[in-house]
Amino acid sequence: MSQLLDTVDLDKTLQAQSPQEILKFAIETFGNIAISFSGAEDVVLVDMAHKIDPDVEVFCLDTGRLHPETYQFIEKVRNHYDLYIDILSPDGDAVRELVQEKGLYSFYQDNHQECCGIRKIAPLRSKLLEVDAWVTGQRKDQSPGTRAQIPVIQDDKVFARPNGTLTKFNPLANWTSKQVWDYIRSNEVPYNSLHDRGFISIGCEPCTRPVGPGQHEREGRWWWEEATKKECGLHATNIDN
Ligand code: ADX
Ligand code: SF4
Repeated sequence: MSQLLDTVDLDKTLQAQSPQEILKFAIETFGNIAISFSGAEDVVLVDMAHKIDPDVEVFCLDTGRLHPETYQFIEKVRNHYDLYIDILSPDGDAVRELVQEKGLYSFYQDNHQECCGIRKIAPLRSKLLEVDAWVTGQRKDQSPGTRAQIPVIQDDKVFARPNGTLTKFNPLANWTSKQVWDYIRSNEVPYNSLHDRGFISIGCEPCTRPVGPGQHEREGRWWWEEATKKECGLHATNIDN
């Protein structure tokens, strides 16, 4: 199906649509589609998608380094929506080799790419081999350095099967953080309790910290690295753009 789509042209139309309309289009166009849920405010996607199709597939990359609050929250979402969430673990041998060779906090010295490569990207790559399209909660306002240009729909050349195609949807691309939180509150969507403690953008525990007044949310992620490098490879297309 995806090879028939002109994503550049479609993006022009979908840019003007609401996240719900974009999701509806995505779910109706692709039977074989999955939503990537990080256990943070992207829960709005799960809520919206579940209202369109209660059997929609959701997956989560369990890096083994998430906060306890995030694990509790993922479980809460699973129960709240009576949803099947595919929780993906990294390859045990690869993690063991990294940790034995470099310890548990190598990312503070080497940068985060190697650890993210093992704990997030490899499991994501395997998962995306199973689907024709995926949906993320990326927004333009999350990262001026890397996400200002993200389209609503795009060809994902980074994770496509060899000789195949993969379509990526970012239905929240044009929403602001305020719109996300207005939706969460008015729809009584469950949310990660870390958000009540100053955390905005939430990833793994050792690589995430709360931000103070006036700080951008991305400053709470991989704060020891340059802003333009703050993509873990999950959304590598943002850096290639
Ligand atoms: S990251 O690349 O910096 O870690 P971010 O936390 O901003 O990403 O989340 C953007 C989107 O990437 C999320 O809305 C979600 O779709 C996807 N994502 C990020 N982390 C995960 C995860 N652990 N599991 C599944 N999807 C994730
Ligand atoms: Fe490892 Fe940090 Fe990346 Fe999580 S965010 S996979 S702990 S480097």
